Amino acid sequence: MSQFLRQGYSGAQIGLHWVIALLVLFQLIFGESMGAVDRAIARGETPDATDQFLAGAHYWVGIAILVLVALRVLMRVVQGAPEPVGSGLQLKAAKIIHAVFYLLLIAVPVTGLLAVYVNEEIGEVHEIGKPLFIAVIVLHALGALFHHFKLKDDTLRRMFVPR
Ligand code: HEM
Ligand code: HEM
Repeated sequence: MSQFLRQGYSGAQIGLHWVIALLVLFQLIFGESMGAVDRAIARGETPDATDQFLAGAHYWVGIAILVLVALRVLMRVVQGAPEPVGSGLQLKAAKIIHAVFYLLLIAVPVTGLLAVYVNEEIGEVHEIGKPLFIAVIVLHALGALFHHFKLKDDTLRRMFVPR
């Protein structure tokens, strides 16, 4: 990832952070419809209409996440990003969490696409993304709230106010 440092995030970077966060939550909450449709078809039944709609949404929202993350990585390289606040172990933990996020944001949609177009069994790998995403989101959100309410630094504010 680029080491070009800036004071804060740009408005576009902040917008992308929150749009991607909402889309990922949608995928985690409604993803099971994808498997439900597959199972109904395998049994020779007509899939539930809501599951069909949500499975269609899962496909396109997942692809949108991949495109938006590519844009975000490009923007980070071109515009730079601020160094996480803190030092030592805390700084290292924030950097690792951010790197794991970028890894999941690319690997999870790619394994979803591979499950659809190459081999259904890759769906098993894709599904591991769910607990991993939940664990990283919880750690990340707790970290952001800890910075804001306990350390009382600028971390959370800069994901709302462009600089
Ligand atoms: C699916 C949900 C989320 C994802 C995928 C996500 C992803 C990320 C990533 C990759 C970064 C690093 C940005 C960079 O420097 O390139 C970041 C930063 C940040 N996120 Fe999230 N995030 C999510 C949810 C949240 C939530 C719920 C909060 C608040 C409670 C939050 C607060 C922040 C803050 C404050 C930063 C800036 C950290 C810093 O400046 O060091 N994020 N997020
Ligand atoms: C960041 C993006 C994505 C997230 C967070 C995500 C998350 C999920 C979740 C939580 C499930 C249900 C897992 C379970 O039932 O335990 C699921 C299933 C599935 N997703 Fe995604 N997904 C994403 C992108 C995609 C994309 C882009 C595709 C394909 C175009 C896709 C295809 C599938 C398929 C085929 C299943 C069913 C897997 C199976 O039953 O074996 N996903 N996904």
